[in-house]
Amino acid sequence: MATKRFMTLPRHILEGEKLHPGATGELSAILNQLGLAAKVISLEVNKAGLVDILGFTGETNYSGDQVKKLDIFAHEMLVKAMDHGGHFCVMASEEEEDIIHLPPHHKIGKYVLLFDPLDGSSNIDANVSIGTIFSIYRRVSEGNGPGTLEDCLQPGYKQVAAGYVVYGSSTVLVYTAGHGVFGFTLDPSFGEFLLSHDNIKIPKRGRIYSINEGNYNSWDRGLKNYIKYLQANKFEGKPYQARYIGSMVADIHRTLLYGGIFMYPGDARNPKGKLRLMYECNPMAFIVESAGGRATDGKKRILEIQPTALHQRTPIFIGSEEDVLLVEKFMREAELSNIEK
Ligand code: AHG
Ligand code: MN
Ligand code: MN
Repeated sequence: MATKRFMTLPRHILEGEKLHPGATGELSAILNQLGLAAKVISLEVNKAGLVDILGFTGETNYSGDQVKKLDIFAHEMLVKAMDHGGHFCVMASEEEEDIIHLPPHHKIGKYVLLFDPLDGSSNIDANVSIGTIFSIYRRVSEGNGPGTLEDCLQPGYKQVAAGYVVYGSSTVLVYTAGHGVFGFTLDPSFGEFLLSHDNIKIPKRGRIYSINEGNYNSWDRGLKNYIKYLQANKFEGKPYQARYIGSMVADIHRTLLYGGIFMYPGDARNPKGKLRLMYECNPMAFIVESAGGRATDGKKRILEIQPTALHQRTPIFIGSEEDVLLVEKFMREAELSNIEK
């Protein structure tokens, strides 16, 4: 067994496979390829501030290449990195309206990949953390031909693996295959992801709440009551803290490590909220549940929502189990008192 210090992502995946004798190694190959794509995106993200020097987006840069918007770059990088391994039958990305078929000459596999190539992209220009989110399913359509929309529209509990990469003060990749959640930090000196967060468990309750409070006036009464409750109360003798980065990946990463709750509710203007079920909420719910937390739309488990459209949105309340249960209670009570009136 390698020491923790030198447990690289590929080695960790291999060791994990030894514990599952039936494993074919395919999932390992997929995660390794995703890790490679993440390294390339991370390099490009680190250069984002140099765009003005090396060329504006849409222009030709110093080496003669067209400079692409970073989210389009990340999308194309993931498609290119993942479409030739022979593992997938279909893919879907937040940046593309329809499902993505593999090029005709490529081998078709039994897995399905969904991803948000660059999450929090409005934060790029301010050097704030952004990320990539991915979600993997097994195909459900018959035969060995190209995958279909049906393969992509599976409820989240059917995911076989999910993960995210945060491009922050360092680049961290977190993944789960349903048995434990593991985090790897990219060592820039030799370009390897090293195990830095072994078997992450989210605290049962936390002190941090994370929500865009600018939308307060559009919220339901139950949610307003919950936030007022947090502001007026303490946890373990200390006041609650508000933290909102505005990049879901970074907000969830902090929630996973420190505990607490992240919320993107539906409101009077957007009843379904903002975040996408297939690219953002399902993978994050799978990770947070695998770490012992909870993720619902306020009433129902995110992972049990039957999707009907590739880009559908859902409200989300996710994080420490007791915090999510508490906001659900506030919302339920407000709804009941509305009915009684
Ligand atoms: P994306 O950049 O992939 O479109 O996602 C942005 C999302 C998410 O990262 C974040 O939690 C949320 O937008 C923030 O939205 P508000 O600015 O409405 O708070
Ligand atoms: Mn996003
Ligand atoms: Mn995005």
